[in-house]
Amino acid sequence: MKRIKIADILKTATVGQELNVKGWVRAFRSNRFIQLNDGSTINNLQAVVDFEKFDEALLKKITTGAAISLTGKIVASEGSGQAIELFVETIEILGEANPDDVQKTVMQPKKHSLEFLREQAHLRFRTNLFGTVFRVRHAVAYSIHKFFNDRGFFYLHTPIITGSDAEGAGEMFHVTNFNLDNIPKNEDGTVNYKDDFFEKPVNLTVSGQLEAELGAMALGQVYTFGPTFRAENSNTSRHLAEFWMIEPEVAFSDLNDNMDLAEAMLKYICQYVMENCPDDIAFLNEREKAEQTQKPASERSELTLIERLNFVINNDFKRITYTEAINVLVNSAHYKKKKFKYDVSWGTDLQSEHERYLVEKEFNSPVIITNYPASFKAFYMRRDDNCEAGKETVAAMDILFPGIGEMVGGSQREERLDVLKEKCAAFGIHEEDLWWYLDTRKFGTAPHAGFGLGFERMVMFVTGMTNIRDVIPFPRTPGNAEF
Ligand code: 4AD
Ligand code: MG
Repeated sequence: MKRIKIADILKTATVGQELNVKGWVRAFRSNRFIQLNDGSTINNLQAVVDFEKFDEALLKKITTGAAISLTGKIVASEGSGQAIELFVETIEILGEANPDDVQKTVMQPKKHSLEFLREQAHLRFRTNLFGTVFRVRHAVAYSIHKFFNDRGFFYLHTPIITGSDAEGAGEMFHVTNFNLDNIPKNEDGTVNYKDDFFEKPVNLTVSGQLEAELGAMALGQVYTFGPTFRAENSNTSRHLAEFWMIEPEVAFSDLNDNMDLAEAMLKYICQYVMENCPDDIAFLNEREKAEQTQKPASERSELTLIERLNFVINNDFKRITYTEAINVLVNSAHYKKKKFKYDVSWGTDLQSEHERYLVEKEFNSPVIITNYPASFKAFYMRRDDNCEAGKETVAAMDILFPGIGEMVGGSQREERLDVLKEKCAAFGIHEEDLWWYLDTRKFGTAPHAGFGLGFERMVMFVTGMTNIRDVIPFPRTPGNAEF
């Protein structure tokens, strides 16, 4: 008999239909009602067992966590909570789950802390919450590919091992096949990379942007979607050492086009998930509501998860320049009462307390901040024309989200070879190392722009999860690379 997935059974099965279903037992009540889940949906199928027809030894093996295969007939349910159920004719135990072992795990049916669940990453998939999070994560990924595909972008695979530090921040994991106990050295004591696998220092990528620019200069519109690695030692709820980033790069595009593209993409993702994951989003919405009641009033969010998603879909993002942002901050009552820990003045980088103030207090909306001072942005960003003396800015944009902070970072790129060379010199970048990048400015250079979306930060926003470790299956953070 053909196996049917529970999502499909609940959607399309008809009374009288005979079928096979396989899944893991969530609960078995009164030797009669099995709650079965196979991961295809958050909803369980209720299966009804006439216990007199089965061996007691067999029924004893139907324990929480066990994998079983059932055949039977779909009947109208007499109980509340489900329209149909399966009347069981045969039971096969595929894999037992010893109740004593289950007792020690996240599978025992009670509420567990997210921290405890993280330690059991192999079993946290089995919980309702993480089943939901990872189904939604998939939907977000798919929606991004669809968004770009529908607009004629090409998915470009940029290297994971690279010699470039695109962001210039030096937060890289080195890649080598040297025996670390015996590293070949030059006479002056420096590492002899000539003997290493790639014959030069290389690292795991911090961004595929520079390579994506090469693609955009021929294919017109490309995007990357891949793993990204940063050895920044920031143990926060928003940073991972290994995360996924989406980086579109578009020829003949300026800063405004870039903002429009990013805003359209973020709205599209929210819309897609609302339309395609209604059960999972409803579950996350209720979960968050329940969590909110445990929090002090001052920490509760004003909008529910669903309201926040609708807000993003239906409202234009606020767009302001860095200079305007500084003015807003300096004129705020918060500033006058000296409530900011860090200084605010033109030329200092915005700290997360400033970003939060703008997004959560002043505008209560996603905010795009543009035209930052050149001094604290990457070398590749386009120098703004007509800057005031001493106040050089670049065509950068950061998109900040309530509760998350920086969701997107991007810019129009410096397409003028002479200016780019000046920037390289100012940032201490050797032109020989980036010859392949500078070459794009020699052979038909063109205005172009792009941005990077932190995939996990978007999944946080869409699920309402507040720690980035809880939206990636196997989080990598300082001191933590289990599984
Ligand atoms: O702002 P970032 O560093 O920008 C770039 O890497 C550019 N090359 C992007 C581009 O223009 N093509 O990173 C982009 C986004 C951030 O806005 C943030 O959402 C996310 O990547 N991000 C992280 N997410 C999780 N953990 C980390 N350690 C992250 N660092 C950045
Ligand atoms: Mg950034």
